[in-house]
Amino acid sequence: MNVSKAVLSLVAALLACASAAPQDQPVPAPPAPQFDLLPVPATLSPAQGKFMIDAGFRAACIGYSEPRLDRALKRFLLRLQERTGIPLTVGPSTTTGRAQLEIRCHGAGERVQSVSADETYTLVVTPDRILLDARAPLGILRGLETLLQLTDLDRGSFHFPAVSIEDRPRFPWRGLMIDVARHWQPVEVIRRNLDAMAAVKMNVLHWHLSEDQGFRIESRKFPRLHGEGSDGLYYTQEQIREVVAHARERGIRVVPEFDMPGHTTAWFVGHPELASAPGPYAVERGWGVFDPCMDPTREEVYAFLDAFLGEIVPLFPDAYWHVGGDEVNGRQWNASARISAFKKRRALKDNEDLQAYFNTRLVSLLTKHGKKAVGWDEILHPGLPKSAVIQSWRGQASLAQAAQQGYAGILSWGYYLDHLRPASFHYLVDPMGQRAAALSEKDRTRILGGEACMWGEYITYENIDSRIWPRAAAVAERLWSHETVRDVDDMYRRLDAVGRDLEALGLHHRSVYPQMMQRMTGTDVPEALKILGDIVEPVKQLARGRMRKYTSLTPMNRLVDAVAPESDRAREFTRRVDLALATAAGLAQQAADLRRWLTLWRDNHPALRLVLQDSFLLGELETLSENVSLLANVGIQALEYLESGRRPPETWSGEQAALLQRADRAQAELLIMIIPGVRKLIAAANQRPTPLSSPGENAASAAQRF
Ligand code: ACM
Repeated sequence: MNVSKAVLSLVAALLACASAAPQDQPVPAPPAPQFDLLPVPATLSPAQGKFMIDAGFRAACIGYSEPRLDRALKRFLLRLQERTGIPLTVGPSTTTGRAQLEIRCHGAGERVQSVSADETYTLVVTPDRILLDARAPLGILRGLETLLQLTDLDRGSFHFPAVSIEDRPRFPWRGLMIDVARHWQPVEVIRRNLDAMAAVKMNVLHWHLSEDQGFRIESRKFPRLHGEGSDGLYYTQEQIREVVAHARERGIRVVPEFDMPGHTTAWFVGHPELASAPGPYAVERGWGVFDPCMDPTREEVYAFLDAFLGEIVPLFPDAYWHVGGDEVNGRQWNASARISAFKKRRALKDNEDLQAYFNTRLVSLLTKHGKKAVGWDEILHPGLPKSAVIQSWRGQASLAQAAQQGYAGILSWGYYLDHLRPASFHYLVDPMGQRAAALSEKDRTRILGGEACMWGEYITYENIDSRIWPRAAAVAERLWSHETVRDVDDMYRRLDAVGRDLEALGLHHRSVYPQMMQRMTGTDVPEALKILGDIVEPVKQLARGRMRKYTSLTPMNRLVDAVAPESDRAREFTRRVDLALATAAGLAQQAADLRRWLTLWRDNHPALRLVLQDSFLLGELETLSENVSLLANVGIQALEYLESGRRPPETWSGEQAALLQRADRAQAELLIMIIPGVRKLIAAANQRPTPLSSPGENAASAAQRF
């Protein structure tokens, strides 16, 4: 929302208060000026007035420039033109005449973007001029995204509000990991996700390229790797170069991951000689931790890796290389007499020692090829070279532990997008939280940031955007903005705006939902299914795998794959219930809307039932739809008791508890997200013999459900 919209909504709120609130209700304070910026900049001072955007708008790079900046400016102007509909001059940057947007870059950036690259910028918008100033090109890229997010509309005119911003990131490593191995993700998916990352100032793509289920990059030296390990779904070397270049244009580093020594079945399909047991091997179709593991005891394995790195390293200019290192179950090692003898000979007391030996050899190969290692937190072991970066995923403690031992680290625990938790959960996980809070100043400097992780078990190229966005933007803000920026409601307000912008940028996170529902129902406007879909969420964490047998070949084309991980409608319903239960005036204000929504949900079932019965993909939703209807009906009854001040009969509450228990279980791998709100209404109706006068304080919130 912009300032003028905020003022309008304040006026609307005051009018609503005037008609509904008794005289003793406090009038809410006017909101501070609000912008839709995400991430929130380090400092922002609003000023008077606005810069009006019209067809005469000109932009120019003054001072240092390079083709990358010219292209970034061109993209900015095209996006601005798209947003405003105002035809803009999108030619080469103006160097003569007066430009209203002056981009002043003070010098060249690094040839290969480093983890300590300078991303600072200042942006000053006045009614007649805009100045974007940065020491290096990355700052300009970040500042252009900020300026675009400032675009605003009121009374028919587009403008940038007058403002002065000085901005820099809190953490230098702000990543997104995408697993393209378990389910294949074509190059367009990666490209558009890079665009989205740049829009929220993320700067590392961690590309998980090999797994038990697939080896996703062309090797000319070892063509059996991708030839036999990928079902034909891999990136050519040319495509890899293209993606790396696309990322660089947007100020994003690309760190490839070749997970080893575990998670390596796909390598062994073409090269069983690398494994710790003879094979033969086939591409894995299931999910989990599997036995196949590289053999750390054989010199041939290191010779192979040396040659492989020699070929592939030049494709990835970044200083870092991810070695994986997670979830080695050691079964193949334990089963091999030769490997046991090797451990004994070398005084390696257990499999962790053996993996540490492997890592030491691997890191020295990486050093030879000019790379530093990143690895999952299992690689933290005495003797690991201090240049390695630890990626903490099994808990936040390993991040602090690594820092204390002198290792740089990044946090991913708490940022697993595949767990489908709400944005609010990820948002409040801070790399400097928990044990890291007690670290010395020096140790704290080793915490470089974090990465949101999109693991690939339950995604396809069709719905991946909706599993990443907009929730990854909440992580982006955590890693860029000051640690005190923690207002969850305000984050959701801005996330909504960013979600809209990202769809315009080419992401599919919103559009995939109606599209999949159209396919499931065979209709253009699957309204009844949407009414249900809007208030359910997929089960959380990895619960799907316990409810149904999944493999990489299972179609992902049901409602659970189409709906958003987080229901905005249910969150809004719960918020309105909280307002209704907080005060008598709140109830008076919210009751009509709550009743309208509950009635819609109650009455949807008969219409939806006909649709469900018609489709092989939808039949499983019948109980879910019926439960929603029953719950909504109870919600309406509870509202009536609350409004009338009558107490429900004794039997009512028992019946409703049984219904809640029945409905609060996953059906078709979906959860009904209006349950916390309905539960609160029921509890309040049971407690209150008279119309409400005190704050509601009961029941579960959606966050407590997982
Ligand atoms: C992991 O989630 N196995 C790093």
